Amino acid sequence: MDLRQPVSRRRFVGGVATVLGALGLRPDASLFAQGRQGGARRAGPSIEEYDAFAKLANNENNYGPPKSVMDAMTSVWRYANRYGYPDGGIVQAIAEHHGVKPENVLLGAGSGEILQVVGLTYLHGNKKVIGCDPTYATVYQTASGIKAEAIKIPLNKDYSQNIPAMIEAANKNASSVGLFYLVNPNNPTGMIIPAKDVDLAVKSVPKDMPILIDEAYHHFVESPAYATSVPYVLEGRPVIVARTFSKIAALAGMRLGYAIAPAEVIQKMRAYSISSINALVKHGGVASLKDTAGQAEMKAKINGTKKKYVQMLEAYGYPVIPSDANFFMVSLGGREVQPVIEEFRAKGVLVGRPFPPMTQHLRVSVGLPEEMDRFMKGFKEIFSQKASTSANQR
Ligand SMILES: Cc1ncc(COP(=O)(O)O)c(C=O)c1O
Repeated sequence: MDLRQPVSRRRFVGGVATVLGALGLRPDASLFAQGRQGGARRAGPSIEEYDAFAKLANNENNYGPPKSVMDAMTSVWRYANRYGYPDGGIVQAIAEHHGVKPENVLLGAGSGEILQVVGLTYLHGNKKVIGCDPTYATVYQTASGIKAEAIKIPLNKDYSQNIPAMIEAANKNASSVGLFYLVNPNNPTGMIIPAKDVDLAVKSVPKDMPILIDEAYHHFVESPAYATSVPYVLEGRPVIVARTFSKIAALAGMRLGYAIAPAEVIQKMRAYSISSINALVKHGGVASLKDTAGQAEMKAKINGTKKKYVQMLEAYGYPVIPSDANFFMVSLGGREVQPVIEEFRAKGVLVGRPFPPMTQHLRVSVGLPEEMDRFMKGFKEIFSQKASTSANQR
């Protein structure tokens, strides 16, 4: 039973601001700037305009939730008026799924809330976060919002994460680092960190340094070199794994993610969590965890579409960074991405924003086949054909 009142995004932001206030800190306006993770959205297109776009910008799952998840959510609309209602056993279901105890689980309104909570828990008092660059920005934004610093280690030339440099920075700055952040697979590249490199990091940074491993795109990974980091939690290491139902279960708009971590870590994080999770998504999450066949089908559909269009782009002469996620980055052959984004928008196709310093790459979320056809048609109108990509540099 969840006896707490569901909390709106505005109240969530207000709640976090209150926590910051209690810490004697003023939230930086940019922390809750309009955008996908917090605050009100920028005045956007009308419903008709929005629906007409091919939406390949936000790494969403354009198939929408599977029937199993929709049925579960639909069946609990009758609890929309309740504070206390049967919550479907979501925490227990997540714990069982990972072979951990309920005290190792913290729910968030999307894994974005988990990232913010981890940042607030471990970065106050001017602690630093170490991570790669570019990567998913929420933790860095949380850090800047509480005047904490980020040590950002550039990606390697092949766009993999420079784990040895991150380890070195962690050890050199041990006393001032509050958090070591890995995103696996990384966003915006889609590249995994091989399990052996994660292992090296976990075992080479100072023993008590909290390590956040963001596995938002875990469910799409095919590379045999990858492994989830949940076993480190079972070993009792200070590892926090963040997962989300936004991607594989297509529940981005419903907001449900979670952390798996040692019980004492979860306890610390709980103080900063708002837990504004609605009744519907709790039941949708349970249904998604049970529907392993549906998850496998979704993964196959999205990865199949990804492969097809990656091959088409490479055959057209534009190399793509190897991706194990539901998006990929294509090299623009030396062109800057911002005007390209605008050209696509004019064609009714929304593609990813610039990710400095990779401003000559375009991030494309894998959409429905018809959306990908519109993307490919647009790409061929904007870019001329080149020689096969094997001759080109990524
Ligand atoms: C790497 C990564 N982590 C976390 C998130 C947050 O997703 P959500 O808050 O919907 O779970 C995203 C969203 O795109 C992401 O790319």
